[in-house]
Amino acid sequence: MGYRTLEIYLVGGAVRDKLLGIEPRDRDWVVVGTTPEEMTELGYQAVGKDFPVFLHPETKEEYALARTERKTAPGYHGFAFHASPDVTLEEDLVRRDLTINAMALDEAGNIIDPFNGQEDLENGMLRHVSNAFVEDPVRVLRIARYAARFSRWGFRVAHGTHALMKRMVENGEVDALVAERVWQEMERALGEDAPQRFFEVLRNCGALGRILPELEALFGVPQPAHHHPEIDSGLHTLMVLEQAARLTPDTRIRFAALLHDLGKGTTPEVEWPKHIAHEARGVPLVEGLCERLRVPKEYRELAVIVTRDHLLFHTAAELRPVTILKLLERIDAFRRPERLEQFLLACEADSRGRTGYEERELEQPRILRGAYHAAMAIDVREVVAAGFSGKAVGEELHRLRSAAISQIVKNREP
Ligand code: CTP
Repeated sequence: MGYRTLEIYLVGGAVRDKLLGIEPRDRDWVVVGTTPEEMTELGYQAVGKDFPVFLHPETKEEYALARTERKTAPGYHGFAFHASPDVTLEEDLVRRDLTINAMALDEAGNIIDPFNGQEDLENGMLRHVSNAFVEDPVRVLRIARYAARFSRWGFRVAHGTHALMKRMVENGEVDALVAERVWQEMERALGEDAPQRFFEVLRNCGALGRILPELEALFGVPQPAHHHPEIDSGLHTLMVLEQAARLTPDTRIRFAALLHDLGKGTTPEVEWPKHIAHEARGVPLVEGLCERLRVPKEYRELAVIVTRDHLLFHTAAELRPVTILKLLERIDAFRRPERLEQFLLACEADSRGRTGYEERELEQPRILRGAYHAAMAIDVREVVAAGFSGKAVGEELHRLRSAAISQIVKNREP
């Protein structure tokens, strides 16, 4: 038995990233002209229940047998695959999502590019390879994520691909997405350079209304023009996310920034453009969304805090000392100082995410940080040493901290 016909190609994202001059996240390989049995004989380790995928004996990188796929049932799990030594490289590439992901590199360093991926890469086009695109609704999310990741090069969705995505939304394919996959793509998108592009692309094809209806509901809802020259709540939300991405790589902060105004989507129209109590109305919406998508606790907790209390950030200069203290306690700032910093950054993004406010000087972070440090300087041991015990310790601590914050507030006044 010889392995003469066995050919190995680097494929997918690794080829794309190499051409873009960025470090690939991982390397995927395709093997043509072989069988699972031969792969095992060569020392590759079989993994993957659903597909014929193997790990290289030394590098542990993934080697997949060239395969074609065929849809058998609606939704995400409805796949059957066909892998055999006669499946060609091109047959494998044609079932991939985008032309920029459907290139291969052979062992001599030649690019195999049957679908003009290089040209689309140069022109910044996210274009589907073939009608096989519609077989996997996750691809709608992936396109949106690539738009977020490659935004600096102006990547956009090709017209025909956009039409296909719309059709997938209209005929319900996108509704078959499971929560885990939605969150997985969304979390990755939140970590990209321009996360707001992810939500824009989903909105343009109609998927946002299916996946995140609470966010979609913000578009077309006006806000008062004197605070919000951009007027539209949905637009504002995406501007806030853009600012959050400028301020921090922390995806929990970016997520909280994205959700903080959900309550504006349920304001009765007669109250527009005002949004009285939208903070409180937003909290159950944030909780519901997080529950549905199984969003991790760390994300959910911060998003709830920012949604509930962002108005207090904006009005920090007018707050009574005891209100500031209660805010710090609700944020759990004394036990988790990083929470305060996360809260401040998400709220700063909210403030800057308005037309004309992007570069404004902000006093609130200084006020709230100052109050926090003043309150922290009160040592609970001193309270105990002064003879307090039981419940009275907490009460006295609260009183002393409030007084310390008053001092700061007084010093600030002219
Ligand atoms: N692929 C696809 N459809 C999917 C998922 C993956 O066609 N729903 C193909 C694409 O050719 C992709 C390759 O499988 O390039 C590998 O997928 P994956 O590792 O998820 O993505 P990468 O392209 O490597 O890129 P990244 O992880 O950076 O998004």
